[in-house]
Amino acid sequence: MKPLISRLKPYYNSKEFIAAVLPTIGNIESFEMEFAEKFECKSGIMFPYGRSGLYSLFKIWQLSNDEIICPAYTCVVVAHAIVLSGNIPVFVDCEEGSFNMSYAGIRNVITEKTRAIVVTHLFGYPMDVGMINKIVEEAEEKYGNKIYIIQDVAHAFGAKWNGEMVTKYGDASIFGLNISKIINSIFGGMVITNDDVIYKKLIEYRNNNFPKQNVSRSLKRFIYLVSVYIAFNKFIYTLVNWLENKGFLDRFVKYYDESVIDFPCDWNYYPVEIEARVGLVQLRKYDEIIQKRTSKSIKYAEYFKNDDRIKLVPLSEGATCSHFVGLVSDRDKWIAEYRERGIQLGTIIDYSVPYMSAYEKYRRGEYPVSRFYSEHIINFPNWPE
Ligand SMILES: Cc1ncc(COP(=O)(O)O)c(C=O)c1O
Repeated sequence: MKPLISRLKPYYNSKEFIAAVLPTIGNIESFEMEFAEKFECKSGIMFPYGRSGLYSLFKIWQLSNDEIICPAYTCVVVAHAIVLSGNIPVFVDCEEGSFNMSYAGIRNVITEKTRAIVVTHLFGYPMDVGMINKIVEEAEEKYGNKIYIIQDVAHAFGAKWNGEMVTKYGDASIFGLNISKIINSIFGGMVITNDDVIYKKLIEYRNNNFPKQNVSRSLKRFIYLVSVYIAFNKFIYTLVNWLENKGFLDRFVKYYDESVIDFPCDWNYYPVEIEARVGLVQLRKYDEIIQKRTSKSIKYAEYFKNDDRIKLVPLSEGATCSHFVGLVSDRDKWIAEYRERGIQLGTIIDYSVPYMSAYEKYRRGEYPVSRFYSEHIINFPNWPE
């Protein structure tokens, strides 16, 4: 078997391993503080997943049976958090030529029933946070309701709009910290905020509702970390990829089912220290990682610039290149061709949420741009080496 360059790979060396076994580097509280500071907010609250943090925000704001705006083209777990918290997702299609929500689309669906909006900065491309604030403020004035703004920066750690981090805007920001993200804490998620009331309520909510399961959870996380070290070796990865293609790894790699709205069974357990310690090591590598991802993405953009078989969305100022994506008409052919060359391409977000059978009842009209993207998207390995 030829070695294969994987579509994603966490940037680990011995430091993560040492941090996992030695408790001296820090703990959940120090990770939360350092993380919030890095992304220019006052406080951070760690969660077992990003989706758990999003769900908990809806709960502390006592949103129930309320409408929450989110993109049609995003990770489905965002919509899951809305529904499982007892609310109604209202989808907005992408702006033509962008992977993010259309501003006109947001204006069209915002009503007196809207109580929150999840502003996703997909693949690291920042949205115009000033424009979002304006739309929301106008609606708040018109309808007399508070509308919470959550920046979803699971793909856009450190992304900036007009030179300012998008996480400085809105009520709170959520991050996912699994191994497919820019940096990770094995698993995990984070909410950061500048609002002391939100911070107090959220930490209290987590502490009261997320039981600790330290020993077994830490052990599982440690085993997972070691497996990741091994699996992403480029020679071993060929075998891993073969197993994945045969469906033997579905339990680990398939994160959604078209017809089901659910969370993983451990979504509401307290995060463990080992995750926070690995997260701290990764956080301190953030600048290096983002610089390497960006330089690889710029090289891809240059390489494909005259290739009319692939359509790129130009990297905007302040983008953070979590992924390098393009749109192609014959996706399977690209995947096969690159596989031959020893490079694995991904088909990140190959669905448009309102068209999934589980979300049919929430669909209002059509979302053609996101549907098109879901059928044509392709992503190239841009992980740091
Ligand atoms: C855009 C986006 N938002 C939110 C999340 C939620 O993160 P988590 O998987 O940690 O729940 C993800 C997850 O992968 C994501 O891609």
